[in-house]
This record gives sequence, C-alpha cells and structure tokens, in this order.
Amino acid sequence: MQHQRIAALLQAEPSMQEITVKGWVRSFRNDRFIALNDGSTIHNLQCVIEPDNYERALLDQINVAAAVAVTGTLVESAGSGQRVELQAKTVKILGKADPEEVAKTILSPKRHKLETLREQAHLRVRTNTFGAVMRVRAALSFAVHKYFQENGFYQAHTPIITGSDAEGAGEMFRLSTLDPKNPPLDEDGNIDYKQDFFEKESNLTVSGQLEAETYAMGLGQVYTFGPTFRAENSNTSRHLAEFWMIEPEVAFNDLDANMDLSEDFIKYVVKYALDNCKDDLDFLENRLIQEDKSKPQAERSPMELRKKLEFILKNNFKRVSYTEAIDILKSSKPNKKKKFKYLIEEWGADLQSEHERYLVEKHFECPVILFDYPANIKAFYMRLNDPDSEGRETVRAMDILFPGIGEIIGGSQREERYDVLKEKMDTMGIPEEELWWYLETRKFGSVTHSGFGLGFERLVMFVTGMSNIRDVIPYPRTPGNAEF
Ligand code: 4AD
Ligand code: MG
Repeated sequence: MQHQRIAALLQAEPSMQEITVKGWVRSFRNDRFIALNDGSTIHNLQCVIEPDNYERALLDQINVAAAVAVTGTLVESAGSGQRVELQAKTVKILGKADPEEVAKTILSPKRHKLETLREQAHLRVRTNTFGAVMRVRAALSFAVHKYFQENGFYQAHTPIITGSDAEGAGEMFRLSTLDPKNPPLDEDGNIDYKQDFFEKESNLTVSGQLEAETYAMGLGQVYTFGPTFRAENSNTSRHLAEFWMIEPEVAFNDLDANMDLSEDFIKYVVKYALDNCKDDLDFLENRLIQEDKSKPQAERSPMELRKKLEFILKNNFKRVSYTEAIDILKSSKPNKKKKFKYLIEEWGADLQSEHERYLVEKHFECPVILFDYPANIKAFYMRLNDPDSEGRETVRAMDILFPGIGEIIGGSQREERYDVLKEKMDTMGIPEEELWWYLETRKFGSVTHSGFGLGFERLVMFVTGMSNIRDVIPYPRTPGNAEF
C-alpha cells in the first residue's frame, strides 16, 4: 500500500478505509499519542495507539526523531487542535533514533537558537521554522517560473563557468585544474593558464546577464534562474558567496518598462506565497511576534508579516531619481545630526545600506525604485543618459529597495550603442578580448533592451521575515564557511 501525505490527510474527511502514513516522530505522549510530521505541512498528524496492543520493546522505540509507518483509519479527533487523527492499527519502526544521541542535537524538543541550528544545517530542516522557510522558498521558486512562463518568457540556462566578469567588479572565484603547488609558468613567470583545463582563465559566474542579453536578442524575452557566486568579503546578514539570482532580460524594453516588469513580478510572487503558503506564513508570523517580544521597541517590526506582504501588493513602489534621493538624504535629520556613518556631502556619493534604509523605512515608508545613478558608481553595461542640466553623467540604472532588506533588485537599461559601449569598456578597463562577443551583439540589429537581477534569498528573507540570509538557503556559503 502506498503511503499518504499528511498535508492532504488533514484536509480529508474521516473514512473507514485503511491508510498508511510515514514520517518522523515529533513527540510521543503517555505511550498513546504520536505527533507525526512528514514535511508536507507545518502541522503534525496525531496518531493514537492503544498501548496494550504493542510490545514494550516497540513502544520504547517510538522516540523523537525516529521514522515510523503508522497504519490505521482516519477518524474525527476528540482532542482540540485538529479535525482528524489517525486511529492506529499497526506501528512499524522504519528508522530508530537513540534518545541520548538526539538530546545532543537540535532535534531535541526545545527552543534552539538560530546560530545553533546553523551549526547543524543537515538537521535543521526537521525543525518547524526551517520546514516552513524551505517550503515557502520552494513555493516562491515555483512562482518565479510560473510568472515568466505565463508571460511569454523563455528560461535561458546561462553558463555557471565563464571566462568573463559580468559585473566588472573583480569578485570572482577562480577555477583551475592546475597543480597549485607547481603551476606551469609562462616566460614572464606568471601562471600559464593556456595550459589549464579551458586553456584560459575561468571563474564561477557572478551573473548570467551578459549571456542572457545575447539570448534576448534572439528569443525576445528570457530569464535565468541559477546560482551565482561572489568572492566579496562581506560578512553581513544579507550577503552570501553563493546565492540564487533571477535575471529577466527583454528586448525593446526601456527603463520604465523594466520598472513596470519588476514591480509586477515581485507582486505576483509575493501574492503566490500569500495564497499558497498560508499555514507556514501563519507559523512564521507568530514566530516573529514571539521574537519581537524580547526586543526593544525600536527594533520590533512595524507590521505583522502578512500585513507587510499585503502592503507590498496594495501600494505602488515609489520611483525616485538618485538626484532627488541625494537631496532628501542631504537634508535628512540623521545626516544633519551626523548620525549616518557615511555622511552625504554631495552628489556622486555611493549609497550605503543606512541611506537606503532611511529612504525606505523612514522617509517614504514603502518600497522605492531609485533610478538614474551616477555613471561612475555603476557597471559598464548600463545605458548612458545625456548629461543633466549641470553636466553630470548618469546611467539608466535602477535599484529596488525593500523595507528591512535594502536592495532586493538591481537592474538597468543596457547600452545598445556600439561606440558608446566600446568607449565605456575602454575607460573602465573592461578587457575586450574577454567580452568581444558581447560587444559584437551591438553590431547586428542592436536594440533598446533592459533587465534586472533579483536576489532570490533576499526575496525569501522578505517573505518569511527571517532576518539572516544564512537562514533562508539550505547550506549557506559565506567567508570562512563551506561546511556540509
Ligand atoms: O545588483 P547586482 O550585483 O546586479 C547584477 O548582478 C546584474 N547583473 C543584474 C541584472 O541586471 N541582470 O545583483 C542583483 C541582486 C541584488 O539586488 C541582490 O538582491 C542580489 O542580487 N545580490 C546578492 N544576494 C545575496 N548575496 C550577495 N552577495 C548578493 N549580491 C547581490
Ligand atoms: Mg546592485
């Protein structure tokens, strides 16, 4: 007989038909009540057994974390908290769990700190919090594909191994099969990558954008959804060395259309989670309410989780130029009172997360799309604007800033003019031998096009309310940490 999933059974009507469920024991009370979880839902199925019908040796093996198969019938529950329960006829131990060993791990039934859970990342998905987060993550991933598929986009599988630096920021993980102790050297004494596996220097991709752009020039509308790698030494609660990015790229879209797409897309996936992850979001919302109780007033979330998500759906993102933002920041209280770590003195300053958070959380109190940034603080591929009235150079960049998260999306209209792009690459020191193919696309029917990158983990943080990015990806990779 096939086993059934608990999520479905909890919705089912009582029935005389015999069924089997398989899962892991969350608790066992009075030799009678097994709370069973199989990962299909945050909720456990109560399985009721008649202790007299079982040998002591078997009862002693129904321990927290053990895997069991329970066969019986679904009956109306006498207890509170659940509609139905399983009246057990047989219990089979599928995988034992020694209580003494369990007690040493996060599987022991008590509250564990998130830091402790991180150290046992191989077990943490069996806690309520991580079960909920990872189910929401999976739902969001599905929603991403659903959105693009419903809107006429093709997924492009861009390479993970590349020979170029898509962001021009030099934050790449090198790849090599050369002997690190004895690498071949060229005449100048440098490592001779011509003798390496790819016969050139190669690295893990920081972004699929450049390849996606070439595909948008043929398929019109494409998106990528894959892992990206950054060797930036940022030990923050919002940075990973390996994260998943979604990068749509659309031919004929200008920056305004790009903003419209990004806003529509985020709202769609957030709504999908609200509609399809009700129980997990309930749990996560309560978790945050409990967590907030131990925090000082100023650090508590201004809105409950679901209200925050609904707020995003209902309100237009505020679109603000970089120049306007600088004016707001310059005359802001924290700037005047020197409360910012980096004071905003003049136009051209790069915005730090304290500034982004001020704009979103204090000034506008809603998601903000900042656009038209100074050319020299943004990547080489962004389309150059005509100089402004004061002769300053800006590019058609956009960043979406979210409350509690900061930058969730970065994107731009791309420089489609061959000469302008070539000059930009020259002045920014982007090697043409690496990106000749990218440049060449500007020769053959080059058109206006735009795209953006959404950091998937930052989206999952926002939707689940988790405050550390290490807690929304199964096995986080950060500086000094590649365990598991
Ligand atoms: O702003 P970024 O660097 O933009 C790009 O990579 C462009 N190629 C995207 C495009 O236009 N197609 O990164 C995009 C997003 C950021 O807004 C952020 O959400 C996320 O990726 N991100 C990170 N997330 C986690 N850890 C990191 N180290 C991240 N770096 C960027
Ligand atoms: Mg960015």
